[in-house]
Amino acid sequence: MDQSIVNLAYLAAAILFILDLKWMAHPRTAVRGNRAGAIGMLIAVIATLLSPEWQKYGGDGIGWSYVAIGLAVGAAIGAFAALRVKMTAMPELVGLFNGFGGAASVLVAAAAIVEAVSTDFATIESPGQMKVATVLSALIGSVTLFGSYVAVGKLAEFLAVKWKLYTWQKAIKYGFNAILIASAGYYAFANDFGPWTLLSVACAVTMAVVLVQKKDSFPGGNALKLIAFVGSLVMAVLVVMNAGDSSVIGPENQDMFWALVAVAGLLGVCLTFTIGGADMPVVIALLNSYSGLAAAATGFVINNNVLIISGALVGASGIILTKIMCKAMNRSLANVMFATMGPTADTPDADEVYKSVKSTSADEVAMMLETAERVCIVPGYGMAVAQAQHAVHDLAGLLAEKFGAEVEYAVHPVAGRMPGHMNVLLAEANVPYEELKEMDDANSTMNTVDVCIVVGANDVVNPVARTDPTSPIAGMPIIDVDKARTVIVIKRSLSPGFAGIPNPLFSMDNTLMFFADAKKAFVEIIAAVKEG
Ligand code: TAP
Repeated sequence: MDQSIVNLAYLAAAILFILDLKWMAHPRTAVRGNRAGAIGMLIAVIATLLSPEWQKYGGDGIGWSYVAIGLAVGAAIGAFAALRVKMTAMPELVGLFNGFGGAASVLVAAAAIVEAVSTDFATIESPGQMKVATVLSALIGSVTLFGSYVAVGKLAEFLAVKWKLYTWQKAIKYGFNAILIASAGYYAFANDFGPWTLLSVACAVTMAVVLVQKKDSFPGGNALKLIAFVGSLVMAVLVVMNAGDSSVIGPENQDMFWALVAVAGLLGVCLTFTIGGADMPVVIALLNSYSGLAAAATGFVINNNVLIISGALVGASGIILTKIMCKAMNRSLANVMFATMGPTADTPDADEVYKSVKSTSADEVAMMLETAERVCIVPGYGMAVAQAQHAVHDLAGLLAEKFGAEVEYAVHPVAGRMPGHMNVLLAEANVPYEELKEMDDANSTMNTVDVCIVVGANDVVNPVARTDPTSPIAGMPIIDVDKARTVIVIKRSLSPGFAGIPNPLFSMDNTLMFFADAKKAFVEIIAAVKEG
């Protein structure tokens, strides 16, 4: 295919990507956005395969078979993930996809540098630009790959946790470490234990040691982060340096390139491992941005415009999302990256906080709802776990129909485990978009709410964020459910939410706890309301 037609196809794909982002910003147009993005990607892939540049590599037949294998494996993973992964595991999946993006950038950069060195950069139009782009692609790609593994591990709770792991969790955690050490060992033997090889091995061993820590804060964590950060910058400069004929420093030294990948991997592990669990939404958005930047750098390596454009779009949107998430938690990015969030020595004891908890039943809740004129439902992660969204919507409809109650939903921006998690679930249950209130709007009228039902939410309604400046979530905006006349909290026990701290809301005078699985609780309340 002529290059000008390929460029036109790339332009069409880029326009579709931009429309995709615009449409994805609203639940009503999100499906259309998703389709636009998929079609844009299809156009980009086909145009690349038919481009003169690709024919140069793929024309010999070997290239096509590699592409076919790649497409088949990628499509199989994508289809499996789309069909089988539960809504609650979406953040892990996004993390995994970010990691794949990082891995692809590292591999393309490695292949490009091997090819360029084999021809002594003779076929490269601007070697300087190519070297810088390759190094950036490898550095950011490796940070993204290893950082994403840690983010997935922390979300799936097999990394940085003190409790006992299931067999599958142990298999992934220790299996990954075994592969890391085995590859480093094999690489060292195959390369005669040179200095750069040994640096790669040292990084792999350090990563393995960090990855078995049971807490995200461990002695020397911040120092290691700093060493890995400075180390990866120094390595990047060394790889780009032009040292004449010498193969000791410069891109000709492949061991040095892999040492850069290893140091950057260590940086990715350290950066993500030491970030507190409740900050994971920000980290996932940030890694998303990194994967975009790595892809854009890879676009410069292989001179592919659509990769540069799509990488830049992902990078920019990831950074915007990161900023939104930080704002929602009232924290700076530096605070998220370098301060650990979680229980501290000042965190009060749960037994102390929960001294005066009162529990309730479906019949009692139904009686309160009979006389309530304004009802507010605050969903959280537990609603997603229980898949209670349909039952929640059914109760809201019943209250409006039977008692003429005004029912609204108050949605916190970081409720659940991914941006927009609650919006997606409620949209799936056909809750009209107009009934969803953003946090500030909901808070402004909370004191007029008769009954507020908190369904599987914990951190996002924890009043210590407002009242206790020493709390790890101090300053995080919350939904002020404690200002409603009566609060019903539906959850299975008094166990903490993601931030791991007790919630004094549960023992307030106007709060009643309904201990049950959220779906079961709503089904029971619906039955009680119908009977009443
Ligand atoms: P959490 O604070 O995590 O609390 C969820 C609560 O749901 C738990 O206390 C749990 O208590 C309850 N629960 C679990 N399964 C349940 C079930 N089947 N039925 C009823 N209740 C159930 O959730 P949240 O208030 O939505 O806050 C979100 C937290 O996650 C924040 O700290 C946020 O920073 C963090 N986070 C957010 C994201 C994004 S982007 N939204 C991503 C990662 C992390 P029981 O076990 O007692 O039932």
